[in-house]
Amino acid sequence: MQKIIAANWKMYKTRAQATQYASEFTASLRKKSYDDRLILVFPPFTAIHDLCQHFSDLPGLAVGAQNFYPANEGAFTGEISPNMLHDVGAQWLLVGHSERRHIMEESSDFIARKVSSGLDYGFKIMLCVGETLAERNAGKLVSILDEQLRSAIASLPEHIHKNLPGRFAVAYEPVWAIGTGRVAGSTEVIEAHAQLRQVLECYLGKVAADIPLLYGGSVKPENAPLLLGLDNVDGLLVGGASLEAQSFLQIIEA
Ligand code: PGA
Repeated sequence: MQKIIAANWKMYKTRAQATQYASEFTASLRKKSYDDRLILVFPPFTAIHDLCQHFSDLPGLAVGAQNFYPANEGAFTGEISPNMLHDVGAQWLLVGHSERRHIMEESSDFIARKVSSGLDYGFKIMLCVGETLAERNAGKLVSILDEQLRSAIASLPEHIHKNLPGRFAVAYEPVWAIGTGRVAGSTEVIEAHAQLRQVLECYLGKVAADIPLLYGGSVKPENAPLLLGLDNVDGLLVGGASLEAQSFLQIIEA
């Protein structure tokens, strides 16, 4: 399976900063071939259009949005629709990130609606799941991952299950590893990813093997090679270390 290396810029970078990054980034990418990598960047909304323009002639590079509201249009002040994101060139949508689950208090039901709506609008979805430290310490890892993944998939009509490969990816992001510098250990990653694969198999059958499972949480150039070599790790979702073009490039090359 082609490895997916994704950058989540969160609420960082003005348009000028994003454009400067894109120039440096694409100049380096043009010098090498990354056929075995799919590279995704999730910038703030305001930089999506600019990045799409910069990336348009580079295959294997796509832009996504960090959030959206699951409706075509309407009286939803402050929200942005899949239609509008399509219009500026986004191809992927990030759903269920822990910052949205915990800071914006998005529920599993709402996240399930977003997954189903995003797919309906023709987007590719990256669903994030992961436990807090308190949940892990209380022995709830398996039940939390089960609940977060099952609730998102259970809402999808069965006829689209077989079409999910290529359109759906899951990122395991333990909340205690995000932005803390404390990357999950190999055993922890292997255990969580095996659990997620099992849940996918239970719902999707054979095609579960073709759904990429990414790891996210304090990924850096130094730990990327080890993480990418672990069982069931099909890619990485990178926050802080993706904000510098050179550091993200090193992770892509890992
Ligand atoms: P981090 O963030 O790499 O800074 O830990 C990852 C994420 O939030 O997706």
